[in-house]
Amino acid sequence: MACKVLAGPASREIAEGLSRILGLELVDVELRVFPDGESKVRLLGDLGDVSIVVQSTYPPVDSHLFQALLIAHKAKSLGSRVVMVMPYLGYARQDKEFLKGEAVSIATVARLLKCVGVERLLTVDIHSVHGLGYMPFQAYSVSAIPLLAERFKGMELSDPLVVSPDLGGRNRAEAFAKLIKSESVYLRKFRDRETGEIRMERPEVDLKGRDAILVDDIVSTGGSLIKAAELLKEAGADRVYSACTHALLVGDALERIKEALDGLVATNTVPSPVSEVDVSPVLAGHLKTLV
Ligand code: R5P
Repeated sequence: MACKVLAGPASREIAEGLSRILGLELVDVELRVFPDGESKVRLLGDLGDVSIVVQSTYPPVDSHLFQALLIAHKAKSLGSRVVMVMPYLGYARQDKEFLKGEAVSIATVARLLKCVGVERLLTVDIHSVHGLGYMPFQAYSVSAIPLLAERFKGMELSDPLVVSPDLGGRNRAEAFAKLIKSESVYLRKFRDRETGEIRMERPEVDLKGRDAILVDDIVSTGGSLIKAAELLKEAGADRVYSACTHALLVGDALERIKEALDGLVATNTVPSPVSEVDVSPVLAGHLKTLV
């Protein structure tokens, strides 16, 4: 069975990594964005029986998502079976009707992927595994936590406490803590669903003489990390670091984070100045079973 990796324009680095690790041919995808914002893609090579389409859906989210749909649809129409790798899966946070009348965005994404012929989906650290349940095909989320934890193992940290900024991320923080042989806690975070504003409670721990590592799936505006770092410093933490999988870093988030935290490490699911950890090996590990 011939399988090739299609390098979506948003994720060329990861596509190259997958092609190298799995020993599969890389097919380039040419992108043209017209002045009105429409995208046109062109596959620059012949396809195999299976196409692994690699395209993250970080901002501009809708354009990147639509480009993924165009590539998948074209591959399918050429007779290839489509495995979609979306290292960062946008819209996964809206996996419920939080307020009456709200669209469940991830359910719509799932329907679109199915429509264009996607047969499997692979992502990294989906916001909540609940989102995978909407996919009408096999869908899996691999964890980047071991790769991120590896980065912190070599650092000289003072009795580090691993902290999740909210209850939803507790399992991720626990897994990270185990790997660096430390303990973890989570903060109580409340979001006003109308305004989007967040409120966090100060943790009941004494962090004097200790460092803290905030572990989260996404850093977008930086609001959650900055608020959490303030509370951890108030609780006595010497230094506050963060490990996040998807560094969206919208607007001036990175500058504000640099002022409030002592360091941030992220993966290359979203390119940014702090996206140092390559997720290709963990994605390839999962894809090996398919190719
Ligand atoms: C929310 O529950 C997520 O896990 C992240 O904590 C959130 O998306 C981060 O967003 P921001 O950086 O805008 O606070």
